[in-house]
Amino acid sequence: MQQPVYENIEATFSPQNLKDEIVKGLENSQACISPKFLYDKLGSHLFTAITYLPEYYPTVTEREIFLKFKEEIALSMGSNHCLIDLGAGNCQKAESIFDAIKPSTYVAVDFSIEYLQEVLPKLQGKYPEIKMMGVGMDFSNHLSLPTSIPNIQRNFFYPGSSIGNFSQTQAGHLLDQIKSSSDQGGLLLGVDLMKEDAVLLNAYDDPLKLTAAFNLNILRVVNTLINSNFNVKDFRHTITINHPMQRVELYLEALRDVTVSWANGTRSFKAGELIHTENSHKYSVTSIQALLKASGFSRFKTWTDSKDYFALIYAQ
Ligand code: AVJ
Repeated sequence: MQQPVYENIEATFSPQNLKDEIVKGLENSQACISPKFLYDKLGSHLFTAITYLPEYYPTVTEREIFLKFKEEIALSMGSNHCLIDLGAGNCQKAESIFDAIKPSTYVAVDFSIEYLQEVLPKLQGKYPEIKMMGVGMDFSNHLSLPTSIPNIQRNFFYPGSSIGNFSQTQAGHLLDQIKSSSDQGGLLLGVDLMKEDAVLLNAYDDPLKLTAAFNLNILRVVNTLINSNFNVKDFRHTITINHPMQRVELYLEALRDVTVSWANGTRSFKAGELIHTENSHKYSVTSIQALLKASGFSRFKTWTDSKDYFALIYAQ
C-alpha cells in the first residue's frame, strides 16, 4: 500500500535556532514566546479540543461555510491539482474537502512533524488514490517547499484563520511567497472577521478553561526546549482585545514574583507581569483582500456565513 513520504525542512527549523528564538523573546523587556511553540504534541491535541468548544466559533463557522459552498469552492479550484495544506494539524479540514476537490497530491505542512506522522498514515489508508506527503516546516519565517512536490497546479490551503497569528507585514511576506510558488493555482484562505467583544471573549477565554490549558502548555514546551524551570502554577491565562490593532492578544500573567532560569540566563517576573504568547488578528473582507492584492493576487471568490463571523476566500 502507498505510504506517505516525509521531509523535514531543516533550514529554519534547527533546534539551536529555536532555542535562540525563545531565549531572545524571554529576555525582551516585554517577554514573549512565539505562538508556534503552542503546538507540541499535547498542544496540538489541546487545540483540537478547543475546536470542539461551542464558544470557539471559527472552526464551526468555517465548516458551515465549507459545507454550504463545497461545489462552488471545488469549481473555483479546478481538478487534478496538488493541495498544499499549511498548518495541516489533524488534516481534518483538508479531508473534509477531498471528496469535492479531489486533489491528486496532498502535501501536509506543519510545525509538528510528529503529529503528521501520527495522522497521515491513517488518512493515506482512507484515500489510497491520493499521493501524500508530510513536511515539517516553520513557514512563519520562510516558505521553502521540497523539490519533490509535483509541478502541477498548486493550490495552497490556509484555513482556520491562522494567518491571524501574523502581523500585516509578516502576513504579507507569507502571501508573497505563496503567490510566487502557486503558479497557475491559487490560495484558499480562511479569515476570521472582526466582531463584538463578547463573542471574542468567550472564544478566547472559554469557561471550560481549555484555552487556558492550551496557552499555559507553552511553558512546558519552553521548559523542554531550553531546559528552563517555568512552573505552570505561577502563571494564569489572560486576554486583551486590542481594538486599534484589530486583534485578540493572549498573555500569561505571573501570579507572584518569580525568577525563571535556563542554561545561560534568568528572567524575573513581577506579580502581574505579562508574557505575550499570541496575536489573533481579525480582518474585514476589504482589509484582507487589500493585503492579498498587495501580494499580487487579483481575482477573488469570497464566501461567508450568515452572521459574517468568518470568510473563506479563493485568491488567484
Ligand atoms: C489557530 C491561530 C487560528 O487564533 O483562533 C485558539 C489559535 N488561540 N485559541 C486562533 C487559538 C487561542 C487560533 N489559530
